[in-house]
Amino acid sequence: MASARYVTLQVVLLVAVALAAAPWLVLSDPTPLQDFCVADLKAATALDGFPCKPAATVVDDDFFSAAIISAGNTSNPFGVNSTRATVAAFPGLNTLGLSITRTDLAPGGLNPPHSHPRASELVLVLKGEVMVGFTSGLNRLYSKVVKENELFVVPRGLQHFQLNVGTGDAVFMAMFDAQSPGVVTPTFSLFATKPAVPMEVLAKTFLMGEDEVDVIKSRFAGF
Ligand SMILES: *[C@@H]1O[C@H](CO)[C@@H](O)[C@H](O)[C@H]1NC(C)=O
Ligand SMILES: *[C@@H]1O[C@H](CO)[C@@H](O)[C@H](O)[C@H]1NC(C)=O
Repeated sequence: MASARYVTLQVVLLVAVALAAAPWLVLSDPTPLQDFCVADLKAATALDGFPCKPAATVVDDDFFSAAIISAGNTSNPFGVNSTRATVAAFPGLNTLGLSITRTDLAPGGLNPPHSHPRASELVLVLKGEVMVGFTSGLNRLYSKVVKENELFVVPRGLQHFQLNVGTGDAVFMAMFDAQSPGVVTPTFSLFATKPAVPMEVLAKTFLMGEDEVDVIKSRFAGF
């Protein structure tokens, strides 16, 4: 009895030390504390995530989604369209720490540089040839042309892009280790905000004249 209690105490101490030494363990999507927690998207309470629907009202369809079966319309200036199955479109993902996005690219289409603050991204190309690249904090570019059924991984939070370098349309799936990865696209965050980022900040940031900044801003006026 005494030795069993001693072992239990040791385990408790080890866990406590591990948690104290590794606070990042609690900074990612939470580990589920129940089998499922289908998001109640209409709940009055706002949480970091969504509260669960009452289990008695959960149905098979809560764990199914057809959100990404159709190609998005790529007739836009970038030739890209991302269709998301994140928790907002697929409530069964709530608390599970994963989601998926389908991205369609017209020939020459570009998914412009952006980052996901809350997730790493595993890219699976389903069709065509896609140049995927990300940049590290040390200004190094890591890039590959990724073909059908091949994979490329983008570490959490790093700037990355996808460019269709094949001759036809391209399609890839992006899988995320977060139910809501978030997206930050610097071109939009700098040139398409309301209120606008001050001209002096933009001109000094890009080592440009204000007239040059105005040209770029005019391109993003419609977004
Ligand atoms: C993406 O495609 C959908 C479905 O065709 C369309 O409703 C949406 O406007 C498109 N988005 C962009 C940014 O082109
Ligand atoms: C795609 O979007 C363009 C521009 O908005 C529109 O003219 C075209 O009809 C759309 N195509 C489809 C298949 O919905």
